[in-house]
Amino acid sequence: MATLTRVCGIVGYVGHRQALDVVLDGLRRLEYRGYDSAGVAMLDGAGGLAVERAAGALSNLEGKLAGQDGSRFTATSGMGHTRWATHGAPTDRNAHPHRDAAGKVAVVHNGIIENFAALRAELETSGVEMASETDTETAAHLVAAAYASGPTAGELTASVCAVARRLEGAFTLLVTHADEPDKIVAARRSSPLVVGVGDGENFLASDVAAFIEHTRDAVELGQDQVVTIDRGGYRVTDFDGAEVQAKPFTVDWDLSAAEKGGHDYFMLKEIEEQPEALENTLRGHFVNGGIVLDEQRMTEQDLRDIDKVFVVACGTAYHSGLLAKYAIEHWCRIPVEVELASEFRYRDPVLGRDTLVVAISQSGETADTLEAVRHARTQRARVLAICNTNGAQIPRESDAVLYTHAGPEIGVAATKTFLAQITANYLVGLALAQARGTKYSDEVAREFEELAAMPQAVRQTLSTVDQVRTLGRELADSKAVLFLGRHVGYPVALEGALKLKELAYMHAEGFAAGELKHGPIALIEDRLPVVVVMPSAKGRALLHSKMLSNIREIQARGARTVVIAEEGDEAVRPFADELIEIPAVATLLQPLVSTVPLQVLAAEIARARGYDVDKPRNLAKSVTVE
Ligand code: F6R
Repeated sequence: MATLTRVCGIVGYVGHRQALDVVLDGLRRLEYRGYDSAGVAMLDGAGGLAVERAAGALSNLEGKLAGQDGSRFTATSGMGHTRWATHGAPTDRNAHPHRDAAGKVAVVHNGIIENFAALRAELETSGVEMASETDTETAAHLVAAAYASGPTAGELTASVCAVARRLEGAFTLLVTHADEPDKIVAARRSSPLVVGVGDGENFLASDVAAFIEHTRDAVELGQDQVVTIDRGGYRVTDFDGAEVQAKPFTVDWDLSAAEKGGHDYFMLKEIEEQPEALENTLRGHFVNGGIVLDEQRMTEQDLRDIDKVFVVACGTAYHSGLLAKYAIEHWCRIPVEVELASEFRYRDPVLGRDTLVVAISQSGETADTLEAVRHARTQRARVLAICNTNGAQIPRESDAVLYTHAGPEIGVAATKTFLAQITANYLVGLALAQARGTKYSDEVAREFEELAAMPQAVRQTLSTVDQVRTLGRELADSKAVLFLGRHVGYPVALEGALKLKELAYMHAEGFAAGELKHGPIALIEDRLPVVVVMPSAKGRALLHSKMLSNIREIQARGARTVVIAEEGDEAVRPFADELIEIPAVATLLQPLVSTVPLQVLAAEIARARGYDVDKPRNLAKSVTVE
């Protein structure tokens, strides 16, 4: 079985510092993208390339490098990679960088070269012996051949262009050649790559986090582009070698946002950062009494004409999308369907010019969501992206964009970006209501004011952290945990269960509480923890009383009830084995506070079971293949 490279962290550097330090620092910041294996390549000072690779976490590579002759890794240009693979063993041999037979070319890669089997067969026929099972290695041999002879001989950039034209699939490739020192050439198609522009030094990376310590000046690359960096600058072309104008931008967050800031785990820091993430998501989106998107390539009339909304997303982003339905239908009176992006295009959804597809993605590079966007566009639907990553592929391919501005999220499990997505969904709902006239401007302003009060409410909710952590330690040996919610509490229950599954590897299920009696109640057994997200007694009295009945039913069957309820909800107290109080807020906004204890609970149970909550097994932060 060939080993395909899926989601990886990539760093390239050309400058005046020791490249090894810069590259390893960058990889450390990108380790959330993959942690199956890691490797580096740089000039060895003797006309060749020094390469080191190690299976497992980056620390394994660092250990290997520490035991080496330091003089091999003193170059001031080099590149590195952390990998996350789904096929084949994450071995030293399959780790990147990969080289050609002569050891002159080194390549790191993120994505999948879909036609690699044909390319590999062609190379083997011409006598090339493969040293690994990867698709990536074919690119190294192809570049070496293009550089050795033919129209691109002796020209690294032209050789990479020629090879990129032959590759199918999604890829970011970084290539270096021992005969063209202090130069790195990169090619990109449907996979992330940014350039960091410094003074006498330049960077390439999958994510700005890798170089933010050195420069905040960045350049985003478009689809099917090649960039060449050296000490003096960067040059961007298309795959045919024609020069193109790339778009510079300034990164609006700093290094401290990507550091742990005294926490054991990024995830815990990111949970605490949620009030600020919400403030930043709201900032700049309400101007002169109206909601403003970050990018709008559709007219007000287009917005007014929308008669149907689809929300497409995956995982946690999908859960936020479920909440968008409650808000948009309520405020705009337009039907909304929420769909898993991975299912969307395969069932031939009914789309047209007046359909708005809202694509929600933290990374902006999730392949399932990207393909859903592309499908929607082929059907002439409008696409609005909600995204946390400036210039990522999904926003680039959309007609309108609202960025969540939650800052970098390093923990693999989404936390602050979930709350930011909910907030962004509501902003989109208000923007639509405003455009379609289903809400007066003073009503929009009032809703926005309520949203603007949420960072403080989340801050207050964070005071439950100690109580929830103690509970988490008590529940760490449970076999399973169930989560129940109604109305907007239902997506919260789904999210609570997902967090527990992915972090603590524990069986967890979220249910709409009304569904209990239709089957799931059979799961209830003595001392099974059931987490209940209680609707507001004041705001949703009917739902509240129905939920009280549900709690009674499960308690009577022996469940251990953990109840998340509004402060002052005395009616529920007698039925709660553990009561976690959250501030009273408007119904639609309750998920912004009720989710917080569930995130903490999952993280603490995982920690008590001895797991790394930033890097859950088998997962990667962004999933760039379907
Ligand atoms: C769960 C989680 C994933 C992502 C999903 C979509 O904690 O992080 O379920 O929400 O993979 O990712 P984005 O939002 O980047 O499209």
